[in-house]
Amino acid sequence: MQYKAVIFDLDGVLVFTDKYHYLAWKKLADKLGIEFTEKDNDRLRGVSREESLDIILEKYKGEPISPEKKKEYLEEKNNTYRESLSEMNRGDVSDQVRQTLKNLKDAGYRLAIGSSSKNTAYILERCELTDCFEAVSDGTMITRSKPDPEVFLKAAELLSENPADCLVVEDADAGVTAAHAAGMDVAAIGAATASGRADHELSKFEDLYDILEG
Ligand code: BG6
Ligand code: MG
Repeated sequence: MQYKAVIFDLDGVLVFTDKYHYLAWKKLADKLGIEFTEKDNDRLRGVSREESLDIILEKYKGEPISPEKKKEYLEEKNNTYRESLSEMNRGDVSDQVRQTLKNLKDAGYRLAIGSSSKNTAYILERCELTDCFEAVSDGTMITRSKPDPEVFLKAAELLSENPADCLVVEDADAGVTAAHAAGMDVAAIGAATASGRADHELSKFEDLYDILEG
């Protein structure tokens, strides 16, 4: 086996929460009179909540915003986002994703999560995915977000595996950079395939099994 463990990004790889992030940021942006398109939203993929707000505020034309006010906006956005997350359930994970995770586990791979999101545990619970993973490394455990490698190194540490034995699955450019900085290979899916920087490319999630076992 070329890899012993597979570390999955969550948002955009296992679940499609991008639209909820977009709607929650859009609500805040509208309130502040900031233009915010789905294209702007693409820049937020894989980026922490705090950095996302700074990107959105690039287009803000009002008075400087205090750190306290920013904290308030972050909380407001997260509350809107959590309302959408509370509607998620088992059906928000495709059969293809669920079956592939099972097949990989049965084939002896160790599975972990490596996500910037501080809502990771809640999303996994809502979607009944928690038991699929031996380790969860997320936004609540790190001080530097992707493209920094911290979240993936933490996942490898929790599994007690060498980074070189781990494969990361990512949909964000920042995540591809982070995985490589951690000394890990990456399988890109969705938007992350465009740069051609990943070691493997998935046109659909189930391709992962063939890459690992084919
Ligand atoms: C990443 C998403 O997984 O998590 C980003 O791709 C998001 O868009 C980041 O900003 C942080 O998420 P949360 O849930 O902590 O606000
Ligand atoms: Mg992602």
